[in-house]
Amino acid sequence: MKPAQLLAYCRAGFERECAQELTAIAMEMGVSGFVKAKPESGFAVFQPHQEEMGVELGKHLEYRRLVFPRQVVCVGELLQALPPGDRAGPIVAAARALGKRFAALWIEMPDTNEGKALSSLARTLRPHLEKGLAHAGIAIDEKAPQRLHVFFVGGAAAYVGVSEVRNSSAWPMGIARLRMPRGAPSRSALKLAEALLEFIPAREQAKRLAPGMKAVDLGASPGGWTWQLVQRGLMVIAIDNGPMAEGVMETGQVKHWREDGLRFRPPEPMDWMVCDMVESPSRIATLAARWIAERHCREAIFNLKLPMKKRWEEVQRCIGIVDEALGGGGYYLRVKQLYHDREEVTAHLARR
Ligand SMILES: C[S@@+](CC[C@H](N)C(=O)[O-])C[C@H]1O[C@@H](n2cnc3c(N)ncnc32)[C@H](O)[C@@H]1O
Repeated sequence: MKPAQLLAYCRAGFERECAQELTAIAMEMGVSGFVKAKPESGFAVFQPHQEEMGVELGKHLEYRRLVFPRQVVCVGELLQALPPGDRAGPIVAAARALGKRFAALWIEMPDTNEGKALSSLARTLRPHLEKGLAHAGIAIDEKAPQRLHVFFVGGAAAYVGVSEVRNSSAWPMGIARLRMPRGAPSRSALKLAEALLEFIPAREQAKRLAPGMKAVDLGASPGGWTWQLVQRGLMVIAIDNGPMAEGVMETGQVKHWREDGLRFRPPEPMDWMVCDMVESPSRIATLAARWIAERHCREAIFNLKLPMKKRWEEVQRCIGIVDEALGGGGYYLRVKQLYHDREEVTAHLARR
């Protein structure tokens, strides 16, 4: 079995955006095909017209460039009518056709209510699958370059495929599950925590988010994002007409200024600017690009709210705005719909 199709997991309701994105990337690479994406299913499948092209696409697709897909897996045909008495059998056979050594076995399902109903099946099946794989001579070895994914889309149907460990999400189901930290004033705190995990490599966290660094938080109230920065020892100027949580202010690391975040410029260069203001995405993209261009900060993380219908197009527009303002490749931009993002995406912008 050649894993010629691309399976992308996404937030339920964003299948269309996922499909648009995969189609655009495939077209860029000269691969023609079509996407199957059922609304609210939590996944999309790109089927190339030619098998070989699909394999090539899978090899060259850059996970870090993707906005809406949470995970991308190269899969073969959907296995259907899995026998209830031996679901593991056909799955092991499909896995054997893909390789003999995998870094991990991830049994997954869409992030939907129907998907959740399949999680007990996944738990029951795991020991049978592990036994079956071992019996078929398939080793699980964390040093292997590929992971094995079994993605159930129903009790009797699953895709079997592989992801490259170095070019995929490091989280099962592509979901960074974070605990709500005690003391954080809002659930938004999880968004910035996930953004920092996603955008800043673990080995660089201590250097790029060091105690004593300076940050501005635009649209800071009640203070979840500020709280994350304060936890890392940063000194924060919080800009918002709304109130800041007492606990955050009591740290002594925060100045709260009631100003318009679109107009505010810092009195001295900052290390970081973060922005979660509810404003139009193009305004926020323009603002972030200006902060970087005018050297008001070195790095920025900002959220783009997408309440409109054409969400993929809007993201493209914002990427275009940044490119026009900063052009010449002198910057680094990543945009991602995080697990903790709802109708929104989060971006990281920095000078190279
Ligand atoms: C989603 S909330 C921010 C939540 C915050 N990140 C947290 O973690 O608690 C959006 C905030 O943006 C603020 N806001 C919207 N437009 C603004 C502007 N032009 N200037 C300053 N703040 C603004 C609102 O007052 C609101 O408090």
